[in-house]
Amino acid sequence: MIDLRSDTVTRPTEGMRQAMFEAALGDDVFGEDPTVNRLEEYVAELLGKEAALYAPSGTMTNQISVYVSTSRGDEVLLHEGAHVFVYEAGAPAVLSGVQVRTLSGEGGLISPETLRGAVRPENIHFPRSRLLCLENTHNTSGGRVYPLEDFAAVAAEARELGLKVHLDGARVFNAQAATGVPAREWCGHADTVSVCSSKGLGAPVGSLLAGDVETIGEARRARKAFGGGMRQAGVIAAGSLYAFEHHVERLAQDHERAKKLADGLRDAGYSVATPETNIVLVEVGEADRFLKALAREGVLATPMTAGSVRFCTHLDVGDAEVEAAIEAAAGITADALERRG
Ligand SMILES: Cc1ncc(COP(=O)(O)O)c(C=O)c1O
Repeated sequence: MIDLRSDTVTRPTEGMRQAMFEAALGDDVFGEDPTVNRLEEYVAELLGKEAALYAPSGTMTNQISVYVSTSRGDEVLLHEGAHVFVYEAGAPAVLSGVQVRTLSGEGGLISPETLRGAVRPENIHFPRSRLLCLENTHNTSGGRVYPLEDFAAVAAEARELGLKVHLDGARVFNAQAATGVPAREWCGHADTVSVCSSKGLGAPVGSLLAGDVETIGEARRARKAFGGGMRQAGVIAAGSLYAFEHHVERLAQDHERAKKLADGLRDAGYSVATPETNIVLVEVGEADRFLKALAREGVLATPMTAGSVRFCTHLDVGDAEVEAAIEAAAGITADALERRG
């Protein structure tokens, strides 16, 4: 099977497995795992933050940020397509007792004007607007990059309005690869940043939350409360460290392959948004029917809406797989599906 459902489906490489096998270990809840400590220092430095915290998932690092940045009854503002809102099982309500307010904006962007219009005035009737969550790259918009200038502008507006800013940077290194702008440039405009080693970077597990020392101290406490304190976590942290050290540069290859895939699908008659990074959104008529037919041809993608699907390029996808996927999709255009009945 050619699996283009997500960049999370990758298997660790030989080099990564070796690094995991050889990892120096200790009890990380006691702060004694040398590999986790190295990883946290490495990522904090990479993102230009004082400190970082290792956690099992991007959902956990996002939700820890929501938890440490808010109080019960506060309001979190985010884009209507944000992962924190759409795909995290209602966790802001479940774990932090906050409500979310969704904002709209082209390509996952929130304009300073939209933000200003949504922030509540101080009044006992209203929830307190406390946190703005931004996402880069923006998953549901098809891996769109949040242009640095736009990001800086809305983050500055948030600060002025008294809000904290969290960046869901699960794929922020894809933004770096697509633009040449270092990831830390975006991070400089956010109070907290979460990054994932288990997306395009190819580690089996692991995300980090970065911020100032005080916030990350609180986050460490929250991670324990959320059940995310791990013991000899160096076994997995070694895979994450390897991913940050060896797999950031190669993301550009995933982007090239995504473009090639998009071009091929367009040539085959599909309506395809031009990808900026490694996510390709395609209009296919009936998504379920298309995906079933595609799977019969040995290719997996994922539904986005009733009529569109997502293909995602990653570490385990080469040129041959991209070509095979194009060929498979070309054989099942809407016309072909119609003919088959
Ligand atoms: C933008 C974004 N943020 C956060 C996450 C959550 O990561 P995890 O699956 O590790 O919880 C994902 C997962 O795909 C994501 O796409």
